[in-house]
Amino acid sequence: MSRSKLVVGNWKMNLNLAGARQLAQAIAGGLPSLLSARNGKVEAAACPAFVHLPAVAEVLRGSPVSWGAQNVYHQPDGAFTGEISTAMLTDLGCRYVILGHSERRLVLGEPDSEINRKLLASLAAGLIPIVCIGETLEQRESGQTWAVIESQLVGSLAGLTAELAGRLVLAYEPVWAIGTGKNATPGQAQEVHADLRKWLTSRYNHSLADSVRILYGGSVKPENAGELLAQVDIDGALVGGASLKAESFSAIVAAC
Ligand code: PGA
Repeated sequence: MSRSKLVVGNWKMNLNLAGARQLAQAIAGGLPSLLSARNGKVEAAACPAFVHLPAVAEVLRGSPVSWGAQNVYHQPDGAFTGEISTAMLTDLGCRYVILGHSERRLVLGEPDSEINRKLLASLAAGLIPIVCIGETLEQRESGQTWAVIESQLVGSLAGLTAELAGRLVLAYEPVWAIGTGKNATPGQAQEVHADLRKWLTSRYNHSLADSVRILYGGSVKPENAGELLAQVDIDGALVGGASLKAESFSAIVAAC
């Protein structure tokens, strides 16, 4: 097993242009020495709002920190008012794209079928998709955690060949842990991550399952990152609130 760790900042709909630029500058200043001390075994990326991407890219270009988007549309171009294409993202040097975040699934009503189209379009464009899955509190409490996650996997990864799946990143984000300050315990997260790897093994094969990075997301902060990231099947973190401050984001990267 030689999975590198990945810490992704999901800045969501926060910051203004000056704030996004400042945060990128602080990250670009602090992270390179941390990352080089880990000999390429740890990667970091920032995902600002679409309109802040050019400024953030300008700051991070040439640094070891990557950048990506929080969403994309599946069509290559055309009459899709308000949407952003994969080519627009690759044009800006995006490496990653977050897909199927629970806020998009639950607040904006995005179905698995749409996430699947976005996934296939992103892979075709050379982007690395970070596909989010996770259950609500109600679903967990009624014992449906795995059933929910499995149906999200089946729907969002439909038609994904083993070759393409090799470039996938998954993010397990229990909805009840996002922005609540209440993270999944390392044991709860590890249990789901191990099941995700089992599912990948049965759907594809062992070596593919072993190579896919599975991030945990949901109230990751410097205080809990070390314990979460020490779990065998947790390969990094998708960080919301704590990614908005360079010090806490760097401390999470340092915990890898
Ligand atoms: P949080 O958000 O770290 O603020 O809980 C995580 C996410 O939504 O990706």
